[in-house]
Amino acid sequence: MGRSTGSRAIAPAHTAIEHRTFRSQGSTRHLDTVPTQTTPPDFDGVTLVRHPLVQHKVTRLRDRAAPTKLFKELVDEIAMLLAYEATATLQLEPYPVDTPLETHIGVTVQGKKLTVVPILRAGLGMVEGVLRLVPGARVGHIGLYRDHRTLEPVDYYFKVPGDAADRAFIVLDPMLATGGSAVAAVASLKKAGAERITFMCIVAAPEGIRRLRAAHPDVHIICAAIDRELNAQGYIVPGLGDAGDRLFGTR
Ligand code: PRP
Ligand code: URA
Repeated sequence: MGRSTGSRAIAPAHTAIEHRTFRSQGSTRHLDTVPTQTTPPDFDGVTLVRHPLVQHKVTRLRDRAAPTKLFKELVDEIAMLLAYEATATLQLEPYPVDTPLETHIGVTVQGKKLTVVPILRAGLGMVEGVLRLVPGARVGHIGLYRDHRTLEPVDYYFKVPGDAADRAFIVLDPMLATGGSAVAAVASLKKAGAERITFMCIVAAPEGIRRLRAAHPDVHIICAAIDRELNAQGYIVPGLGDAGDRLFGTR
């Protein structure tokens, strides 16, 4: 069990895999150097981004006191930082450029071949952060909501560019909880012809990761935190609550 302050329990550090290791030296606490991203044991096909800026911002995002404006800014900034990892396998093409001294054959990314697909609503909060890094990317949309009783996704909208087989897709959703929404979103993309799909989220539950990887083993997951578990209502714990409501102020 976690420590308790008043009525609120504080989970021990190891229950949410977003933490770096602290060493004590006298009264000063130092962070051990750790890789900025890693594949955690038991989570094949998952990249956990451990960069200090990402971890700092995820902790601020969890804070129930964070107002809507701050929450929105943090989701945007974390999405941009995660996008750096999610785009690491983008293909490059030769690109000649005239320096002041000579012609140099450099490289260029095929930005237009990338399509980001937010799952509505909460995924919308991650779009601009990714586009800041890849302004030429196209944007598709998948509308899904989770039925509060069954926790299964209900779809209501789907629109992506036509030439799906030629594109790389990054699906955006801050939360991977039971995994139902992610599995359904990826299935819809594949039905439309998509072959290269990455799933990018901020907080993932082990249950959701396992379900998505089992249904779509070809889909790599990029996340900023792997939390302890789901509660009886299907919320991620410790989590950050309802991401859509916190982003759009509909709590
Ligand atoms: C949230 C979240 C994911 C989904 C995750 O959306 O943004 O899409 O739940 O849960 P799952 O992994 O169990 O499917 P929600 O259904 O609350 O819709 P909203 O974004 O419109 O609020
Ligand atoms: N959707 C959310 O927004 N938060 C959760 O914890 C689970 C699903």
